[in-house]
Amino acid sequence: GAERAAEIDYVFKVVVIGDSAVGKTQLLSRFTKDEFCFDSKSTIGIEFQTRTIVLNRKRIKAQIWDTAGQERYRAVTSAYYRGALGAMLVYDITKRPTFDHVARWVEELRANADKAIVIMLIGNKSDLAEKRAVSTEDAVEFAEEQGLFFSEASALSGDNVESAFLRLIEEIH
Ligand code: GTP
Repeated sequence: GAERAAEIDYVFKVVVIGDSAVGKTQLLSRFTKDEFCFDSKSTIGIEFQTRTIVLNRKRIKAQIWDTAGQERYRAVTSAYYRGALGAMLVYDITKRPTFDHVARWVEELRANADKAIVIMLIGNKSDLAEKRAVSTEDAVEFAEEQGLFFSEASALSGDNVESAFLRLIEEIH
Protein backbone atom coordinates (compact mmCIF):
# COMPACT_ATOMS: atom_id res chain seq x y z
CA GLY A 1 0.00 0.00 0.00
CA ALA A 2 0.90 3.68 -0.03
CA GLU A 3 2.38 3.62 3.46
CA ARG A 4 4.83 0.85 2.67
CA ALA A 5 5.73 2.41 -0.68
CA ALA A 6 6.65 5.61 1.14
CA GLU A 7 9.30 3.71 3.13
CA ILE A 8 11.19 2.73 -0.03
CA ASP A 9 14.14 4.97 -0.86
CA TYR A 10 15.02 3.47 -4.24
CA VAL A 11 13.58 1.02 -6.73
CA PHE A 12 16.22 -0.74 -8.81
CA LYS A 13 15.19 -2.64 -11.89
CA VAL A 14 17.36 -5.68 -12.59
CA VAL A 15 16.91 -7.97 -15.59
CA VAL A 16 17.84 -11.65 -15.71
CA ILE A 17 18.93 -12.94 -19.10
CA GLY A 18 20.59 -15.98 -20.64
CA ASP A 19 19.74 -19.08 -22.66
CA SER A 20 16.72 -21.23 -21.92
CA ALA A 21 16.94 -23.64 -18.96
CA VAL A 22 20.09 -22.16 -17.43
CA GLY A 23 18.10 -21.50 -14.22
CA LYS A 24 17.11 -17.83 -14.44
CA THR A 25 13.69 -18.30 -12.85
CA GLN A 26 15.09 -20.52 -10.09
CA LEU A 27 17.86 -18.05 -9.21
CA LEU A 28 15.22 -15.36 -8.90
CA SER A 29 12.98 -17.52 -6.69
CA ARG A 30 15.93 -18.42 -4.52
CA PHE A 31 16.81 -14.76 -4.01
CA THR A 32 13.30 -13.37 -3.53
CA LYS A 33 11.57 -16.27 -1.72
CA ASP A 34 14.38 -18.67 -0.76
CA GLU A 35 12.60 -21.33 -2.78
CA PHE A 36 13.58 -23.83 -5.46
CA CYS A 37 10.98 -25.58 -7.60
CA PHE A 38 11.97 -28.91 -9.17
CA ASP A 39 9.26 -28.92 -11.84
CA SER A 40 9.67 -25.35 -13.10
CA LYS A 41 8.22 -24.58 -16.51
CA SER A 42 9.79 -22.44 -19.20
CA THR A 43 8.99 -18.78 -18.72
CA ILE A 44 6.55 -17.30 -21.23
CA GLY A 45 6.58 -13.53 -21.65
CA ILE A 46 7.79 -11.45 -18.72
CA GLU A 47 7.45 -11.93 -14.99
CA PHE A 48 8.94 -9.99 -12.15
CA GLN A 49 9.52 -10.50 -8.47
CA THR A 50 10.70 -8.07 -5.83
CA ARG A 51 12.71 -8.12 -2.66
CA THR A 52 13.47 -5.16 -0.44
CA ILE A 53 16.88 -4.95 1.16
CA VAL A 54 18.51 -2.38 3.40
CA LEU A 55 21.85 -0.99 2.29
CA ASN A 56 23.58 1.93 4.04
CA ARG A 57 20.31 2.61 5.87
CA LYS A 58 18.40 2.98 2.61
CA ARG A 59 15.53 0.69 1.73
CA ILE A 60 16.07 -0.55 -1.78
CA LYS A 61 13.39 -2.45 -3.59
CA ALA A 62 14.98 -4.72 -6.17
CA GLN A 63 12.46 -5.30 -8.93
CA ILE A 64 13.88 -8.27 -10.80
CA TRP A 65 12.56 -9.10 -14.25
CA ASP A 66 12.65 -12.54 -15.76
CA THR A 67 11.93 -13.45 -19.35
CA ALA A 68 12.13 -16.52 -21.51
CA GLY A 69 15.51 -17.58 -22.90
CA GLN A 70 13.68 -19.12 -25.84
CA GLU A 71 13.44 -16.69 -28.73
CA ARG A 72 9.82 -17.48 -29.57
CA TYR A 73 8.63 -16.60 -26.08
CA ARG A 74 10.67 -13.46 -25.73
CA ALA A 75 8.92 -10.19 -25.16
CA VAL A 76 9.75 -6.89 -26.81
CA THR A 77 13.44 -6.38 -26.11
CA SER A 78 13.48 -2.62 -25.74
CA ALA A 79 10.68 -2.61 -23.15
CA TYR A 80 12.36 -5.36 -21.18
CA TYR A 81 15.66 -3.46 -20.87
CA ARG A 82 14.18 0.02 -20.42
CA GLY A 83 15.23 1.53 -17.10
CA ALA A 84 17.27 -1.49 -16.03
CA LEU A 85 20.22 -0.57 -13.81
CA GLY A 86 21.57 -4.10 -13.46
CA ALA A 87 21.64 -7.39 -15.32
CA MET A 88 22.23 -10.96 -14.22
CA LEU A 89 23.57 -12.80 -17.26
CA VAL A 90 23.25 -16.49 -16.57
CA TYR A 91 24.80 -19.58 -18.18
CA ASP A 92 24.83 -23.22 -17.06
CA ILE A 93 28.30 -24.52 -16.09
CA THR A 94 27.30 -27.98 -17.42
CA LYS A 95 26.23 -26.72 -20.89
CA ARG A 96 29.06 -25.24 -22.94
CA PRO A 97 26.79 -23.65 -25.61
CA THR A 98 25.06 -21.55 -22.94
CA PHE A 99 28.47 -20.02 -22.11
CA ASP A 100 29.41 -19.63 -25.79
CA HIS A 101 26.22 -17.55 -26.24
CA VAL A 102 27.07 -15.16 -23.42
CA ALA A 103 28.88 -12.83 -25.87
CA ARG A 104 25.64 -12.49 -27.84
CA TRP A 105 23.71 -11.60 -24.67
CA VAL A 106 26.31 -8.95 -23.84
CA GLU A 107 25.84 -7.49 -27.35
CA GLU A 108 22.08 -7.42 -26.85
CA LEU A 109 22.57 -5.62 -23.54
CA ARG A 110 24.97 -3.09 -25.02
CA ALA A 111 22.55 -2.43 -27.88
CA ASN A 112 19.40 -2.06 -25.77
CA ALA A 113 20.22 -1.19 -22.19
CA ASP A 114 21.58 1.93 -20.55
CA LYS A 115 25.33 2.38 -21.07
CA ALA A 116 25.92 2.41 -17.31
CA ILE A 117 24.15 -0.90 -16.64
CA VAL A 118 26.01 -3.12 -14.16
CA ILE A 119 26.37 -6.69 -15.41
CA MET A 120 26.95 -9.76 -13.28
CA LEU A 121 27.85 -12.98 -15.10
CA ILE A 122 26.55 -16.05 -13.25
CA GLY A 123 27.70 -19.60 -13.87
CA ASN A 124 24.69 -21.44 -12.41
CA LYS A 125 24.31 -25.10 -11.31
CA SER A 126 27.63 -25.19 -9.43
CA ASP A 127 26.12 -28.13 -7.50
CA LEU A 128 26.65 -30.24 -10.66
CA ALA A 129 30.46 -30.02 -10.46
CA GLU A 130 30.91 -33.54 -11.88
CA LYS A 131 29.20 -32.44 -15.10
CA ARG A 132 31.15 -29.20 -15.46
CA ALA A 133 31.74 -28.15 -19.09
CA VAL A 134 32.94 -24.57 -18.53
CA SER A 135 36.02 -23.89 -16.42
CA THR A 136 35.99 -21.11 -13.86
CA GLU A 137 39.12 -19.69 -15.50
CA ASP A 138 37.42 -19.30 -18.91
CA ALA A 139 34.56 -17.43 -17.31
CA VAL A 140 36.83 -15.20 -15.21
CA GLU A 141 38.83 -14.31 -18.33
CA PHE A 142 35.71 -13.48 -20.34
CA ALA A 143 34.26 -11.40 -17.49
CA GLU A 144 37.49 -9.42 -17.14
CA GLU A 145 37.68 -8.75 -20.90
CA GLN A 146 34.09 -7.50 -20.94
CA GLY A 147 34.13 -5.63 -17.63
CA LEU A 148 31.54 -7.86 -15.96
CA PHE A 149 31.35 -9.01 -12.37
CA PHE A 150 31.36 -12.79 -12.06
CA SER A 151 30.27 -15.53 -9.71
CA GLU A 152 29.41 -19.19 -9.92
CA ALA A 153 26.25 -20.07 -7.99
CA SER A 154 23.61 -22.71 -7.43
CA ALA A 155 19.91 -21.93 -7.29
CA LEU A 156 19.44 -25.50 -6.05
CA SER A 157 21.77 -25.37 -3.03
CA GLY A 158 21.50 -21.60 -2.65
CA ASP A 159 25.29 -21.23 -2.83
CA ASN A 160 26.38 -17.66 -3.72
CA VAL A 161 22.91 -16.60 -4.88
CA GLU A 162 22.31 -14.04 -2.17
CA SER A 163 25.86 -12.71 -2.35
CA ALA A 164 25.72 -12.32 -6.14
CA PHE A 165 22.44 -10.37 -6.11
CA LEU A 166 23.59 -8.22 -3.20
CA ARG A 167 26.89 -7.49 -4.94
CA LEU A 168 25.04 -6.40 -8.06
CA ILE A 169 22.71 -4.15 -6.05
CA GLU A 170 25.67 -2.66 -4.16
CA GLU A 171 27.47 -1.91 -7.41
CA ILE A 172 24.38 -0.14 -8.78
CA HIS A 173 24.12 1.82 -5.56
P1 GTP B 1 13.56 -20.36 -19.52
O1 GTP B 1 12.39 -19.84 -18.75
O2 GTP B 1 13.18 -21.39 -20.54
O3 GTP B 1 14.40 -19.28 -20.11
O4 GTP B 1 14.51 -21.17 -18.43
P2 GTP B 1 15.24 -20.64 -17.11
O5 GTP B 1 16.58 -20.13 -17.45
O6 GTP B 1 14.34 -19.73 -16.34
O7 GTP B 1 15.46 -22.00 -16.28
P3 GTP B 1 14.67 -22.57 -14.99
O8 GTP B 1 14.90 -21.68 -13.82
O9 GTP B 1 13.28 -22.83 -15.38
O10 GTP B 1 15.48 -23.92 -14.74
C1 GTP B 1 15.66 -24.87 -15.79
C2 GTP B 1 15.96 -26.24 -15.22
O11 GTP B 1 17.21 -26.24 -14.52
C3 GTP B 1 14.91 -26.71 -14.21
O12 GTP B 1 14.74 -28.11 -14.40
C4 GTP B 1 15.56 -26.44 -12.87
O13 GTP B 1 15.11 -27.34 -11.88
C5 GTP B 1 17.04 -26.66 -13.18
N1 GTP B 1 17.92 -25.84 -12.33
C6 GTP B 1 17.86 -24.50 -12.15
N2 GTP B 1 18.84 -24.08 -11.34
C7 GTP B 1 19.54 -25.17 -10.97
C8 GTP B 1 20.69 -25.39 -10.13
O14 GTP B 1 21.29 -24.49 -9.53
N3 GTP B 1 21.13 -26.69 -10.02
C9 GTP B 1 20.52 -27.73 -10.66
N4 GTP B 1 21.05 -28.95 -10.47
N5 GTP B 1 19.45 -27.56 -11.44
C10 GTP B 1 18.95 -26.30 -11.61
